[in-house]
Amino acid sequence: MPAQDVALYYDELHRWTAEDKDFQVFSGRENDTIHRFLIDHDTGAFSPTTIYKFVDPHIATQSPVRGLDAGSGYGGTCFRCLHVHGGQWTGITVSPEQWTRAKGIATARGFDHRIDFHLTSYDAPLPGRFNVVVAIESLIHSSDPAHSIANLASAIDPGGRMIIIDDMPLDDVPASDTELLAEFKRCWRCPVAPSAPGWIAAAAAAGLRLVAREDLSHLMKPRAEDKLDAAFADLSSQAGEKASAGFARLSDAEIGGLHLERLHRRGTIRYTMLVFEQT
Ligand SMILES: C[S@@+](CC[C@H](N)C(=O)[O-])C[C@H]1O[C@@H](n2cnc3c(N)ncnc32)[C@H](O)[C@@H]1O
Repeated sequence: MPAQDVALYYDELHRWTAEDKDFQVFSGRENDTIHRFLIDHDTGAFSPTTIYKFVDPHIATQSPVRGLDAGSGYGGTCFRCLHVHGGQWTGITVSPEQWTRAKGIATARGFDHRIDFHLTSYDAPLPGRFNVVVAIESLIHSSDPAHSIANLASAIDPGGRMIIIDDMPLDDVPASDTELLAEFKRCWRCPVAPSAPGWIAAAAAAGLRLVAREDLSHLMKPRAEDKLDAAFADLSSQAGEKASAGFARLSDAEIGGLHLERLHRRGTIRYTMLVFEQT
């Protein structure tokens, strides 16, 4: 079952990150996020919060906000958006470890009445209706993107927004990168990984109108290929030992992250924000 495997994948990453404070690929834990660091050209910071500069104007079109974070990880986007935009926020994740931690943070911060977290899939019936849906680096795991988008769209009120930020391969992947892309998708449990036009077509079929498309790839810092070669050799040499210790998925995540960095470096995958309006 792909969804079960994704849940185990993130639970395993949770356990490893708890042990290894230097684990950078999925860092941002200090913000309760598991998404990409981006350069903020105004401050020079390389930070997991830069993404919100792009997301915020679209959330601000709605008032009061009734937000869904589809693939919410530790809840960082819910906590941050409640602070900035107010309203009511719901997060869903398929990882029991993330769910438990996110609920614990909400309770500890006294947000229980403004934020709720659910252990469920964006492919299952959703816990309410919303005027904002945010999905940061989560929909790429969908095994049926047209279904996932249609399911989310069905829970958005007319005039509401869906904001998708994810790694989107080019439509025409160079032959030299086909194998690398396939290996990245296997390692990161992303069976389809649509291109931007692929997501736009799925959204249109679900009745959503594209209102913004922004390529954010230039705000990343992919390493040079020789550095990636060295990191790949190092992580590959550790893969057997990690698998024997029960961390095979973690090893895949690390190696897949290097493949992704290389594909970004080459421009074959673009880190893209798509914003849709429910009609
Ligand atoms: C890379 S993390 C991003 C987490 C969060 N969006 C953030 O920015 O911190 C991917 C998230 O997608 C979630 N996810 C993957 N497949 C999912 C599904 N079918 N339904 C709900 N969440 C899913 C995972 O549980 C995880 O929380």
